[in-house]
Amino acid sequence: MDKISSVIRVARFSWTYSVKIAGKKIWLLLFYLTYKNIHPIINAYFIKLAIDTLTQVGQAEPSLIIRNIAFILIAHFLVDSWDNFSFRHSLVLSRTLQRKLLSGIDVDLAYKNASLPITTIENSKFKDKYTLVKREAGFRLYPLVDQSVNIVAGLITFIATAVLLVGFNPLYLPILLILQVPRLFLIKPALNKVTHRASLSAKLSRHWDIYLDFLEGIKGSYEARILKIKEVVNKRLLNIQEQTVGLFEKTESELLFPRVATAIVPMMGVFTIAFMAAKDVVSKATSIGDWQLIVNTAHRLGELSKRIIDDIGSLSEASIFVDKLVEVLEMEEETSFGNEIEIGNVKSLEFDNVSFKYPNTKQFALRNVSFVVNEAENVAIVGHNGAGKTTLVKLLCRFYEPSEGVIKLNGIDIRDYDLSTYWGILSALFQDFETYGVSAKESIGFGDIKNLSNQTRIEKVAKLTGIHKYLSSLPKGYETPLIRDLENGVGLSTGQWQKVAISRALFRKSKIIILDEPTSNIDPESEEDIFNKLIRTVNKRMMFLISHRFSTVKRANRIIVIDSGKLTEQGSHKELMAQNGLYAKLFRIQSESYKE
Ligand SMILES: Nc1ncnc2c1ncn2[C@@H]1O[C@H](COP(=O)(O)OP(=O)(O)O)[C@@H](O)[C@H]1O
Ligand SMILES: [Mg+2]
Repeated sequence: MDKISSVIRVARFSWTYSVKIAGKKIWLLLFYLTYKNIHPIINAYFIKLAIDTLTQVGQAEPSLIIRNIAFILIAHFLVDSWDNFSFRHSLVLSRTLQRKLLSGIDVDLAYKNASLPITTIENSKFKDKYTLVKREAGFRLYPLVDQSVNIVAGLITFIATAVLLVGFNPLYLPILLILQVPRLFLIKPALNKVTHRASLSAKLSRHWDIYLDFLEGIKGSYEARILKIKEVVNKRLLNIQEQTVGLFEKTESELLFPRVATAIVPMMGVFTIAFMAAKDVVSKATSIGDWQLIVNTAHRLGELSKRIIDDIGSLSEASIFVDKLVEVLEMEEETSFGNEIEIGNVKSLEFDNVSFKYPNTKQFALRNVSFVVNEAENVAIVGHNGAGKTTLVKLLCRFYEPSEGVIKLNGIDIRDYDLSTYWGILSALFQDFETYGVSAKESIGFGDIKNLSNQTRIEKVAKLTGIHKYLSSLPKGYETPLIRDLENGVGLSTGQWQKVAISRALFRKSKIIILDEPTSNIDPESEEDIFNKLIRTVNKRMMFLISHRFSTVKRANRIIVIDSGKLTEQGSHKELMAQNGLYAKLFRIQSESYKE
């Protein structure tokens, strides 16, 4: 039952997806595919007519025979020409559709991926499924449409041909069909083997993609050369290749003999029928033209039933993958979270006894964290690597939900706000921020896509972070692509990238601004300058800043110290120095090292 409903779901999806992509042309394609099935029979019929006419020599008027033959051949020529055209045109249609489907699936999957909750896309089971779907479903979708059409067209032709054959001798049909039965039994085992193989290969290909990126990625290209890791990676890639190809070869060879056997057996039927009909020709019960038509029809019918069975097999195979594709495409998106509540001005933000564990981990990354931040306050968060600072920010951004406790904005649980509205009041710069390979203008403009082309405002924020001078000096100014791979593109240093990214965060007219180690690669002088300006410009907004530079941190209204997931200290620089805890210790280490 479950299987039937999934087949129906897959069939419906394939059809609507193809119609969406191909439009009305799908009907034309359907017509061509049906016609393609019937054409061989039409051909055989013309040959029958010709042979029957020629065997009348000696019985009929020669001029009449010649006239008839000419007429038959011209008609046959016209039909063949049409067939040629329809075949070529159907190729154009189907190949276009195939390409559109493949790229369409890529885009739809990527878009879906970008719309799913972070917890979903970080889940390795989901990743396996996504890889499988991306690798298999796209290129199986077109054959699915093709095969469904073929099965329907095949059945129509099958019935027409069967009626024709039965007209000659009622025994012919059962002879043909019985011998097809073994083939039916091959469908299920073949299906199991192929799906098992595909899920194993999908797992392997996850590693494959990761290793390939070691060799192809730009980021690692310097280190990879010095470390000579290409040798190791190459070996591992070849090893995966061997395993994947090995899997393929194993299943295919296991299926080779059964496949050949179940194909040969039905052929015996065609030859039997040819022999029986030949005997009828000898006893003058059948004309030579009819003998030819019977043999051709039987052959065609054998082929057809073999193909229908094979198509059903590959249809079920494809539908397993396409079913997973449908599952992924129908997954719940994060934008459906929360309710429409007006946010207004940000008066307060509170972490109320928040604890958090990442999915599938045992340790708490944050434990019983509580603090309140008031309107327009700027907060610095400090702590060792791995203390939980970024995690805190990710919870604040609602990428994850607290395992315990609540985060409140203006007294309301942040989960109650519509997610997209909530994101609308945030701007965030993450440690591993994206270096968008677009123009300098867009790289900043992406911060507020509605104002993507507001050059004046873009330049204003670029001046704030001190990157304007550099960007305006580029060969194409702000239109220069910030990616070396493109023509006229330039590559930026990590510090310069950070300035672009801070500009992007500032470009957004957000109410809360979050900066996770934004200046880790920026020289101290620029950093000083950026912060002086930053504090002045964002004075009406709430700001969270994670930093290891205490010269910057000390200026925040409030400093929060996170140690192994716990909030251990909070207060102003003065207060925390007086407490003489971890903050004071870290501060002294840094300031003393500068005194030397
Ligand atoms: N996606 C994740 N899944 C599981 N554990 C994670 C994930 N991200 C971070 N962690 C773990 O959570 C802890 C806190 O990390 P993080 O908040 O990034 O530290 P930091 O204070 O350096 O920003 C670390 O032990 C880290 O390994
Ligand atoms: Mg961090």
